[in-house]
Amino acid sequence: DPLRVLVLAGSSREGSVNARLAALVAGQVERSGAVADLARIGDFVMPTYDGDAEQADGQPAGSAALRERLLAAQALVIASPEYNASVPGVVKNAVDWVSRFRPQPFKDKQTLLVSASPSMVGGNRGLWALRVPLEHLGARVYPDMFSLAAAHSAFGEDGELTDPGLRERLADTVDSFLALAEADTRYLCLQRR
Ligand code: FNR
Repeated sequence: DPLRVLVLAGSSREGSVNARLAALVAGQVERSGAVADLARIGDFVMPTYDGDAEQADGQPAGSAALRERLLAAQALVIASPEYNASVPGVVKNAVDWVSRFRPQPFKDKQTLLVSASPSMVGGNRGLWALRVPLEHLGARVYPDMFSLAAAHSAFGEDGELTDPGLRERLADTVDSFLALAEADTRYLCLQRR
């Protein structure tokens, strides 16, 4: 079976540069023979986490749906903006809700982090902040990351990156991540047999 990859944009804004980057990643995933499931964080509506609400009502429909999409995928790519040098609250909130399921859905999940920002560092500090909870939860966060700087002027009319060097680096990052994710998935399957 081909590898299934959930590609999640951490912004649901109409003109989101991270959603555009997520679409490019999904395209590369499909070109390499895997199956991409493209989503935006806003597809999964959930209140800010509250322990009393969880105890009274259980999980909201949004986090339950995100968990299902995670379970259906062997690998995860998150394209997240950087807010105030960190991870956006909406992304962290989703991680917090989903982390409450048992078995815990991020455990052993092969994960690639990418970002886009109009700034010159491309939102890379947000990814370092996002690594902390994901690694804490046992996700296998790929060491390499891709951060797109000056993202407001990086895309052509066709939605592709105009810089050929950046196009190649994004494709290489996605391909090497997928190679590891496939090998790791095979290894985990063998172990569990
Ligand atoms: C930002 N932005 C931003 N950019 C950055 O590179 N470093 C930062 O620390 C911040 N901080 C920040 C805080 C808040 C509250 C907002 C709303 C924005 C700018 C951000 O990168 C820009 O709005 C992107 O376009 C957001 O990503 P999407 O929505 O286009 O995917």
